[in-house]
Amino acid sequence: MNQYINEVNECLMDYLHTLKPGKVREAMIYSVSAGGKRLRPLLFIQGLRSYSVDYRPYLKIACAIEMVHTYSLIHDDLPAMDDDDLRRGIPTCHKQFDEATAVLAGDALLNEAMNIILTMDLDDSLKVKICQLLFKASGASGMIYGQQQDMYYENHNASINELKDIHHHKTGCMIAVCLECAGMIACPTDIDKLSKLGFDMGLAFQIQDDILDVTSSTEVLGKPVGSDIDNNKTTYVSLLGLEKAQDYLKDLYEECLQDIYALSINHGLLIDMLNKIIKRVS
Ligand code: IPE
Ligand code: IPE
Ligand code: MG
Ligand code: MG
Ligand code: MG
Repeated sequence: MNQYINEVNECLMDYLHTLKPGKVREAMIYSVSAGGKRLRPLLFIQGLRSYSVDYRPYLKIACAIEMVHTYSLIHDDLPAMDDDDLRRGIPTCHKQFDEATAVLAGDALLNEAMNIILTMDLDDSLKVKICQLLFKASGASGMIYGQQQDMYYENHNASINELKDIHHHKTGCMIAVCLECAGMIACPTDIDKLSKLGFDMGLAFQIQDDILDVTSSTEVLGKPVGSDIDNNKTTYVSLLGLEKAQDYLKDLYEECLQDIYALSINHGLLIDMLNKIIKRVS
């Protein structure tokens, strides 16, 4: 999949270098090029490919998804939120630059995600539909709602269903939207099934993130382990314990496999993505 990651990276850098130079653009390029796993753009691309659709005309949508994701990380790391100093193996945006620049770089990535889609050479109605999906996923009833709940439950006890709701929104929405966008292009009648798969994958992804926060090392993760404990977060590990969290992850893996087999597609490509998401070590 490295070929796709390289193409996404090239497209991202080409776009970011068209923006007005200055500290904010520098900070955007710093955080985007720090080298994340690019799982969301890959999921979008593999989603298209699993329907035998050529991803290349849609590469900028993959970039837009990664820009929104990177913005969410920059803001998630701010002192007002998780207050973390390391991201993707290097100092967080506000540590490398300053808080004001990090806030603006995040804001700018969100805005430019909209612009990169709107300036694509695609049918207008498709662009509108993609924007609706993406910005609903990242918006006040999506990822941002999840981040709000994540912070609320630093000081309140959550039930397992409330925790599931946090993860569904803060992480699930941005994973599900990758498959929803692919479905919107390749097979709109499959969007509901793709969405279910995306949310199951997203929950699995965040449970693995919670597990890695206690089992991994800062060197391997590229972000500080123990951040959840330091911030008194409610996570699958804090609520269920490590073993039950791992068991739940196994159940979700089976659920995701069933979701994949419910679709008439090239299953192998999405199974590869599922393995990347669930068995990831960083
Ligand atoms: C981190 O996402 C944020 C969560 C939703 C847990 P990733 O683990 O995909 O981060 P990068 O993009 O690889 O840095
Ligand atoms: C953050 O969840 C999810 C978003 C950025 C929306 P976490 O706070 O657990 O992510 P990490 O562990 O800092 O990457
Ligand atoms: Mg957080
Ligand atoms: Mg965090
Ligand atoms: Mg985490």
